[in-house]
Order: sequence, then structure tokens, then C-alpha cells
Amino acid sequence: MAPTVNNLSVVLFIFISFLSSTLSLILKYPAIVNFGDSNSDTGNLISAGIESVNPPYGQTYFKLPSGRYCDGRLIVDFLLDAMDMPFLNPYLDSLGLPNFKKGCNFAAAGSTILPANPTSVSPFSFDLQISQFIRFKSRALELLAKTGRRYEKYLPPSDYYAKGLYLIDIGQNDIAGAFYSKTLDQVLASVPSTLETFEAGLKRLYKEGARNFWIHNTGPLGCLAQNIAKFGTDSTKLDEFGCVSSHNQAAKLFNLQLHALSNKFQAQLPDSNVTYIDIFSIKSNLIANYSQYGFENPIMVCCGIGGAPLNYDSRISCGQTEVLDGTTITAKACNDSSEYIIWDGIHYTEAANHFVSDQILTGKYSDPAFSDQMPFLLSIKL
Ligand SMILES: *[C@@H]1O[C@H](CO)[C@@H](O)[C@H](O)[C@H]1NC(C)=O
Ligand SMILES: *[C@@H]1O[C@H](CO)[C@@H](O)[C@H](O)[C@H]1NC(C)=O
Ligand SMILES: *[C@@H]1O[C@H](CO)[C@@H](O)[C@H](O)[C@H]1NC(C)=O
Repeated sequence: MAPTVNNLSVVLFIFISFLSSTLSLILKYPAIVNFGDSNSDTGNLISAGIESVNPPYGQTYFKLPSGRYCDGRLIVDFLLDAMDMPFLNPYLDSLGLPNFKKGCNFAAAGSTILPANPTSVSPFSFDLQISQFIRFKSRALELLAKTGRRYEKYLPPSDYYAKGLYLIDIGQNDIAGAFYSKTLDQVLASVPSTLETFEAGLKRLYKEGARNFWIHNTGPLGCLAQNIAKFGTDSTKLDEFGCVSSHNQAAKLFNLQLHALSNKFQAQLPDSNVTYIDIFSIKSNLIANYSQYGFENPIMVCCGIGGAPLNYDSRISCGQTEVLDGTTITAKACNDSSEYIIWDGIHYTEAANHFVSDQILTGKYSDPAFSDQMPFLLSIKL
């Protein structure tokens, strides 16, 4: 007998229930702690008063600047949404009644793995972010112990620190920054010591009880207009996609060594779970095959000035108005940011971040892969 519509919907229901429970099993963390740079900063650098962003930042989703360097949501926002978690409050946001029960974000735009120096955009290097986390943890536990139930709604209980997921996405600014004062060979030679600092940070987190780590590798930063405009004026420096070859070469070496470090860390500390996520491949695929994924412009910036090919001028950043050669110019957004991959010359659009997040959640770009456990995640919005 052929299955009736009713039978089919029952089968479908069971099937979807099965998928949902599989998903929540894999991505079941009571809290998320995030470290990084502008790729995952939900408002720390802005809250610190170091920079400000104007409209059109935030226009696509939040409808006003949200502290993010994007027109809308970041990868971390989409990942948390998929885990059925609220957006992460930035640690430094003292207004807006922040709730840290399900986690906290320490990422700050411009941050590096290596310690900051007087010319750094952000003083909040990886090590300092971890110190902030350690302070957060001891202060939160102290408040819970002293005042009991009053703070339970706002602060994570003590067992969340071991059960939580520690997301890390940092390194892009170390590489990009190094090219301003170093040759390619010198940049490549600096990678191992940068990663030693990264490893020391991981160990500090482990010592504080962190066990579940997701480590994002760094993207093809040679494809960002900021780097193309500065280092790609000689076309022999560009690859077939118009990206600066040296920057992508450095990113690849960094990623190779970061991957090895992740595996080493996992092997040395068998009671931890280290997942390495290959953001570089996802973003490179998006830029190379943009039209296949519904985008119109792989490299050209949505919010900038100057028109094709880059629509980028380092003298006027997105949302700012300046007088250039006697003319007042404002860097405005394009008409439809969903056609663009790059938002402001340094950061991706919400549309691109959405694509990257969906790709991460296929499980095919991670080590260990979880694709076998989540085969249909992409097609069903759970
Ligand atoms: C982490 O790894 C341990 C031991 O390998 C395992 O028992 C545990 O289920 C893992 N936790 C998560 C959240 O994946
Ligand atoms: C672009 O897509 C083709 C065909 O699917 C694939 O073979 C290639 O690896 C992709 N390019 C990148 C850079 O991922
Ligand atoms: C944006 O839209 C306006 C109004 O529809 C149009 O005049 C303009 O040419 C568009 N700009 C671009 C860059 O497509």
C-alpha cells in the first residue's frame, strides 16, 4: 500500500524530531564564551570608547549600529542562533541590563594574539581577554556565593565553566598588521612565535576549567579591499581572483600551524574537545564561486567610495563624511548589501556571514568533522 499523506507527515515528524535531538545533542552547551577580533566583536571595542561606528552599520538587522563591524549579524550570532542561544553580551557593555548567564563575549575589534603595543587599534590582546574572563569568572562566583539567588538569573553557575563552549577567532590582525613593517618571509617566520602565545592562552583557559574549544582559522585576508588597496596596486601581486597572494599565503601557513596546534592540544589533553573550523576554505569558496551562491560582487565593497573595482578608499571609512580634494564625500552603503560579500573593506556583510555560518554547520569544514551527525542541517532551519 502506498503511504498516505497522513503517514508521510508522521514519518516526516519523527524524522525532524530525530534531527532536532541530534542537533541539540551535538551543540548542547549551557554557555558560550567567545574570544577574538572584529569578526566576532558584538560591542566591546565600541563600549570601551576606543572607536565608534555610525549608520549604515547595523542597518540590515539591528536597524542601528549594534557595536558590530557589519551591516547586521556576525558568524557568532548565527552560530548561537543555531544553538538556540541568545546573542552574546559584550563583557564591557555596562548598560542595557546585560545578562551573562548563558555566556559572555570578550572579543574586541582590532585585537591580536600578540600583546598590544602603543599603535594597536585594540589593547585587548588574546591574553588580556583571557585575564578579563578569569576576572569575570572569579567575580561571578564570588557574587553567587555571597548573595545567593539574587544573581542566579544573570550569572552562570559554577558547572557551566567546564560544560561551556569556548569559541576563539583571532589571528587575522596579527598577520595583516605584520605586513605593514615586514617582508613576506619575515611575516611567515613570525607565525610560530605568534602561535606559541596562542597556545599559552589555551593552556590558561584549560587551567581555568575550559574543556570544549572551537577554534576558527583565519580567512583569506588578501581578498579584503583594505589589503588590496594598500598591497595590490601592482597587479603581479594579485592572484586569479584579484586577492593579494602574499597575504593569503601567510594566512594559509598560519592555518596549517594552527591546525597542527589544535591537534596537539587535543592529544595532550584527552579530556578536552578541540574542534578546528576551516573558515579559510569556506570564504575562499564563496569568493571564487560567488555567483553560484547568489552574490554579485566578490571583492567590491558595499559601503565605501570610489566605485569599481574596489569602491574603497582608506581615507573615508564606511559611514564617515570627509572633505577630499575640496569636495565633501560620505561613504554610503550600496543599495542591496545581500549582493556583496564585503561590507566595508575589512569585514563581511551579514549575507556573507550567514553563508559562512551555514557552511560551518554542515560539519564538513571541521576537524573532527561532524557532518555524519548533521546531514540535513542546511536544508532545515531548526
Ligand atoms: C568531550 O569529550 C569527552 C571525552 O572525550 C566526552 O565524554 C564528552 O562527551 C565531550 N563533550 C562534548 C560536549 O562534546
Ligand atoms: C569553486 O567551485 C568549484 C566547483 O564546485 C570547486 O571545485 C572549487 O574548489 C571552488 N573553489 C574554491 C576556491 O573553493
Ligand atoms: C541605487 O538605487 C537608486 C534608486 O533606485 C538608483 O538610482 C541607483 O542607480 C542605484 N545605485 C546603484 C549603485 O545601483
